[in-house]
Amino acid sequence: MDFRTQLTVSGAASRTSADALLLLVLGDSLPAGLDEPLAQGLSEAIAQGDFSLKPGKSAYLRQLAGVKTPRVAVAAVRDGSTKALKAATAAGLVLLKGLGVKHLAVQVLGGGSLGAAEAEAIAAAASEVVYLYNTTKPSASPAPVLNKLSLLVASKAEAKAADEGLVRGAAIGAGVALARELANRPGNHCTPTLFAHEARKMAKAQGLKIEVLDKKQIEALGMGSFLAVSQGSDEPPRFIVMHYHGAAKSEPPLVLVGKGVTFDSGGISLKPGGEMDEMKFDMGGAASVVGTLRAVAELKPKLNLIGVIAACENMPSGRALKPGDVITSLSGQTIEVLNTDAEGRLILCDALTYVERFKPAAVVDIATLTGACVVALGGVRSGLFSTDDSLAAELQAAGDAALDTCWRMPTDDEYDEGLKSNFADVANIAGRAGGAITAAMFLKRFTDKLRWAHLDIAGTAWKSGAAKGATGRPVGLLTHWVLAQAK
Ligand code: BES
Ligand code: MN
Ligand code: ZN
Repeated sequence: MDFRTQLTVSGAASRTSADALLLLVLGDSLPAGLDEPLAQGLSEAIAQGDFSLKPGKSAYLRQLAGVKTPRVAVAAVRDGSTKALKAATAAGLVLLKGLGVKHLAVQVLGGGSLGAAEAEAIAAAASEVVYLYNTTKPSASPAPVLNKLSLLVASKAEAKAADEGLVRGAAIGAGVALARELANRPGNHCTPTLFAHEARKMAKAQGLKIEVLDKKQIEALGMGSFLAVSQGSDEPPRFIVMHYHGAAKSEPPLVLVGKGVTFDSGGISLKPGGEMDEMKFDMGGAASVVGTLRAVAELKPKLNLIGVIAACENMPSGRALKPGDVITSLSGQTIEVLNTDAEGRLILCDALTYVERFKPAAVVDIATLTGACVVALGGVRSGLFSTDDSLAAELQAAGDAALDTCWRMPTDDEYDEGLKSNFADVANIAGRAGGAITAAMFLKRFTDKLRWAHLDIAGTAWKSGAAKGATGRPVGLLTHWVLAQAK
């Protein structure tokens, strides 16, 4: 998953020594600037119907006469957007998958000059295609070996911006891959304890400070709501705090808070059996926090960042939380638990209260929080909720730049009505209507002292069906947001 990036200033792609060359072609005719052997090979491929310069088309060509790289993939790019470039890179790389390509060279033809955003999109796409899950599937083909990506640029002037983009894309790509890997692991291979081990491994490798609090320490802190969710499981909870220092200690940090439910059965309010296996992905928010910290640690912006993760299982048992139970959160507010399956908000509220101690510049929580958000936004955009317009705008812009988009949802006071309880300060669910919003309104009650936003990634953290697996979102959005705060 980790590869080196390199820029080569050269117009002669046909003399590049790499295992494969990927040509990304903009426009509907072969552009100038392509050197002779490749121009000839491509025109022949087009003439013979193997390829056409229509959006979505790609082809694999072997051993073109006069071309040094033995494999050439070519993909047509729909338009000049980074989104189109990323899609074409992925389409081209799929053709090279499993061919043992260690060193890939990429050239974009027919566009304007190549900037940082374009280079980043290419590196990110390469990283995404190359990822393979084989941790619990030894029969899966061995992990792909791509370890070097060279981008061919026309001039020294292009090289600087492109290099910046490549470095960023590779770092984000590695963070995305780590988030995918953690989220893909089955619940029995990714318990709260094992998740904490992986977070520690990442932190050690990147030189980050990390604290892992166990059940006793979580009890001592008074996180009654988090512990209530965890109490039905035989697996002990973990509360993980990771610190990245890139600025003076006195500089208020950014804080990311991740929902880390390593398996969500629903608890006593048990979920139906169909697709319950997918609830192993219910720690996608936590995985994205670990992935983002990894990317940020590599890119070293001048700011402070703290990642906080509440990790536990949500299980039914004789000790489990019951509907009607009233629990006391770290904030002191009591909560009537009307549905034990609305557990994400119960662990996040204590984590949000906990992070007040850091006097953060901003706090973003990330959670696979509601099925209602999947209904509202599907798998394209994450749900964004914030009481702060400037923070919402920052996150929306970061998502656009990272091609990891979100969409702002409302937080009007009226949505809070349904959370009233006769037996506690607040209930953990309202009616069915506006379920993603009422979940956010519940969290909002714990954020009075914070500049806060919430990302509901229930629809975007993983894919179902044949392509079942974690996406690593929103590592791209979060990393872009963090980097932008340093400027
Ligand atoms: N982890 C789920 C949310 C979820 C559902 C994510 C489907 C991805 C796909 C969350 O803990 C949950 O169960 N939420 C309930 C809340 C309800 C009981 C108010 C839901 O969405 O059904
Ligand atoms: Mn649940
Ligand atoms: Zn859940």
